[in-house]
Amino acid sequence: MRYILLTLALAGCVGAGDARPDPASDFATYCAACHGPSGRGDGAAGAELTPKPADLTGLAARNGGVFPTTRVMAYIWRGEGAAAHRAMPSFAPLLEGALVPYDGGDGIETPTPERLVALAEYLKGLQE
Ligand code: HEC
Repeated sequence: MRYILLTLALAGCVGAGDARPDPASDFATYCAACHGPSGRGDGAAGAELTPKPADLTGLAARNGGVFPTTRVMAYIWRGEGAAAHRAMPSFAPLLEGALVPYDGGDGIETPTPERLVALAEYLKGLQE
């Protein structure tokens, strides 16, 4: 079922002429200014912010070794946490387009924007 839904979502996406998510590009466009090109929290636009942008390469380490995927997506989706995030209407494109079923660990699949899931997976890959 999961794969059928995913395939339909992707087919709908391709049918609409949209490109597949490119999380590296999305990170560079929407996150790197503050969080830095490699996510260490050292972006130029973040230098003057209080609190400082978080080091996104340590998200798993700061969470007992488990990457907090759902919390990361909530930061972007619902503007949780950083006031800097709530002030970012430009995140909206990350929430548009195809939805894919995403299970945050409670066994319940929730339709979630495909670009948001891809971006969270990308951040997971940056963990040290
Ligand atoms: C305008 C600057 C700015 C931009 C752009 C920005 N952030 Fe942030 N972000 C911050 C600041 C400042 C904090 C630290 C304050 C806080 O956690 O409330 C933060 C915190 C976070 C946290 C929480 C880290 C933790 O330790 O829990 C996550 C996750 C995050 N950002 C992800 C992102 C992602 C993904 C993007 C791109 C879609 C992004 N941010 C874009 C400024 C920014």
